Amino acid sequence: MTKLLIIGSGGREHAIGIALKQSDKNPTLYFAPGNAGTALLGTNIAINAADINGLLSFAKENNIDMTIVGPEDPLVMGIVDTFQKENLTIFGPNKLAAQLEGSKKWAKQLMKNYNIPTANYHAFTDYEKAKDYIKANNQYPIVIKADGLAAGKGVTIATSQNEANNAIEECLLNKKFNDAGTEIIIEDFLEGDEASIFAFTDSKVMLPMLAAQDHKAIGDGDTGPNTGGMGAYCPTPLVTPEMYKKVTETIFEPLLQAFQKEGITYKGIVYAGLMISKTGDISIVEFNVRFGDPETQVVLPLLKTDLLTIFEAIEAETLANISLEWSTESAVCVVLASGGYPNAYQKGKPISGLTQEKENTAIIHAGTKQDNGNIVTSGGRVLGVVSKASQLDSAITQAYETTTNISFENMIYRTDIGQKAKRYQ
Ligand code: AMP
Ligand code: GLY
Repeated sequence: MTKLLIIGSGGREHAIGIALKQSDKNPTLYFAPGNAGTALLGTNIAINAADINGLLSFAKENNIDMTIVGPEDPLVMGIVDTFQKENLTIFGPNKLAAQLEGSKKWAKQLMKNYNIPTANYHAFTDYEKAKDYIKANNQYPIVIKADGLAAGKGVTIATSQNEANNAIEECLLNKKFNDAGTEIIIEDFLEGDEASIFAFTDSKVMLPMLAAQDHKAIGDGDTGPNTGGMGAYCPTPLVTPEMYKKVTETIFEPLLQAFQKEGITYKGIVYAGLMISKTGDISIVEFNVRFGDPETQVVLPLLKTDLLTIFEAIEAETLANISLEWSTESAVCVVLASGGYPNAYQKGKPISGLTQEKENTAIIHAGTKQDNGNIVTSGGRVLGVVSKASQLDSAITQAYETTTNISFENMIYRTDIGQKAKRYQ
């Protein structure tokens, strides 16, 4: 019996668990720490995703065959190196490779050296020099980013010199992001629409997945502050077949060669965050070293190839023998969040409507937990309602039908997930 440990507690980890559970190998799943949804698929273990020693002990004591890392923090901290030293099988890039997400400066330098299209940038540790650059450059908007991991909050799009100076001050002088903001990147603003494409890689080949589109802003019509993602759909017509080919040739292939030339073994997922301009130019906004959330919730349900077989091929470096098979349907995910998110919000609200059984619709858990036999909210993004259908419009209708039957106090969600697709058709 194959035993798998999935690290993380979001919608992404629940979606990965569902895909792995469908494997012919019928694996036994453990989640650390998991959520109320993952508890229905396997066993939740009360070990935090950042507790590398705790996770290592659990994997050893329970003869885990493969550990799968969901979020970026443990990867950037070097969980893969720690497990590999102990001869344990773990899915994800090692510490050196995870710098692709862990240091924006490192990633930008790599992109520049290997001609991977991205916005021009400058890196600073000195406050005065950064301020002088902003003044001399005098172009707005301008983008200021903390170099390290900042839980998605390290990016400021400044529309004036004043805003830019404030962002620089917060990072470099006030240490808002602690060590993650000791260095900053100032980069040109890219105009366009965003898409996410993930690829599997075993360090020898890259296999890109279908293109998805996230909805980052909290409000309908992309208004209000950015969140971790309020919904997604897949595939997105924003990425035409020609563009998809271009992404493979000008982004994934050069990135693979860059790693090979630098002597870095990158195994796992590469997440390309793309900006596509009106004229069809493609630039990298960021690379991540893991599946994205909520995009994973709409990409994996369309993958027909056995996910565990893919993970095993990556471990064995035989990914070249696999070709990915995809459903021709569309998938949509509507995120249900706690009122107040992405700022302060309340937790512990009982959730109703979770037991609806519908073909082609799944309720994916994120910030949920069991509390005295009830399922209650425990995070900003609480649930993802995911529907599949042959047409995107039908998938959207289905997802909202289920959404309107779920409720908890102060529940919020966007009502326009997937509508952007119409602009690209
Ligand atoms: P990142 O953490 O680098 O993905 O940035 C978070 C979000 O900020 C991205 O998904 C974009 O919406 C936006 N963003 C980041 N960099 C840029 C840029 N150079 N131009 C325009 N928008 C950007
Ligand atoms: N959906 C954005 C992310 O996972 O980073």
